[in-house]
Amino acid sequence: MKKILITGGAGFIGSHVVRFFVNQYPEYEIFNLDKLTYAGNLENLKDIQKRSNYHFIKADIVDEKAILELFKKNKFDGVIHLAAESHVDRSISNPTEFIYTNIVGTVNLLNAFRNIWKDDFSQKRFYHISTDEVYGSLGEEGVFLETTPYDPRSPYSASKASSDHLVRAYYHTFGMPVVLSNCSNNYGPFQFPEKLIPLAINNIKHGRSIPIYGKGENIRDWLFVLDHARAIDLIFHKGKLGETYNIGGNNEWKNIDLIHLLCDIMDRKLGQSEGTSRQLITFVKDRAGHDLRYAIDSSKLQKELGWKPSLNFETGLEKTVDWYLNNQIWLDNVTSGDYQKFYNNQYVKR
Ligand code: NAD
Ligand code: DAU
Repeated sequence: MKKILITGGAGFIGSHVVRFFVNQYPEYEIFNLDKLTYAGNLENLKDIQKRSNYHFIKADIVDEKAILELFKKNKFDGVIHLAAESHVDRSISNPTEFIYTNIVGTVNLLNAFRNIWKDDFSQKRFYHISTDEVYGSLGEEGVFLETTPYDPRSPYSASKASSDHLVRAYYHTFGMPVVLSNCSNNYGPFQFPEKLIPLAINNIKHGRSIPIYGKGENIRDWLFVLDHARAIDLIFHKGKLGETYNIGGNNEWKNIDLIHLLCDIMDRKLGQSEGTSRQLITFVKDRAGHDLRYAIDSSKLQKELGWKPSLNFETGLEKTVDWYLNNQIWLDNVTSGDYQKFYNNQYVKR
């Protein structure tokens, strides 16, 4: 029996990873550790919460003592570390939280793992989930490779870059059995509606304006979240220790083109005449330090571990829209309370 700790398992990507592992590996015991911040929601895991190989632990990775106690009690064989503050705009208005969770929290997990295994790591693994944003911003040409020098430009990406460096430092200094991956923008069910795609879906549904930063010319490389979960499964089991794998959709979209496509899908699904949703598009003040373009080269993962994205973007986006339209209660629950405060500060008061 393997005991696997997944951190941040109540968040967007984490909940897909937890579900994937609980279903795929009945012989493993899966522990989901999450602080349940505004972004963590156990409703994301309702369908598997009673499964005998699933356990939930409410804890804060910044709490060094609590984390060490949990590791001593449970002796996890493997860690898949997703817990993080993940929203760039929030890192611009409040960077400190990102330093605690993303950097100190990661070090606490590394230390606790070392402590319980006393640096004897056979059959053990610590998998750190990171982002393509650590590589900085591309111009019109080029792609991010695993060897691209780090050049983070937001408090969020700087905190993730710092945690990546620490994970690699623990591999070189203490021989910790680590593996890392850096992924591009995910989309799909259960994404918190502060991020572009679910925010736009929710606003279109309510006839509210769709805020596009700057001129909408920034480019992101979008990947369906389940394809990320499949990559995480492969890398956790078959990735080489000490290595980093880039994960991406080979699917670059200018924000404005993506929103046009989304508007057209929404018009169809809502039975509205063509062009209705596009009228909601509003260009607003740009994000400070807004990275122009991200594009991932995932050929190492494709060649070495045989992964490739399974969905084209139009199909994935349509599935995503269907999910949000069929899960109004989920959306209403996460957009009540604190969300309103965030939304007013971010979009209304500016
Ligand atoms: P998310 O914000 O939806 O979820 C983060 C989860 O971490 C939440 O459940 C939250 O409650 C939990 N958490 C936050 N602080 C915590 C703490 N101090 N202790 C314990 N739990 C805490 O994030 P996401 O989009 O699912 O991203 C998950 C991971 O993947 C992050 O590490 C992120 O950097 C990385 N990533 C995200 C994307 C993306 O497009 N969303 C792309 C590449 C990498
Ligand atoms: O690249 C991976 C990263 O993708 C992850 O590491 C982050 O956790 C995740 O949040 C995401 O970061 P982005 O900043 O790219 O995602 P976001 O959805 O916030 O924004 C996508 C693009 O859309 C970006 O260019 C900013 C723009 N945008 C965003 C919002 C929320 C708008 O134009 N309007 C908006 O209201």
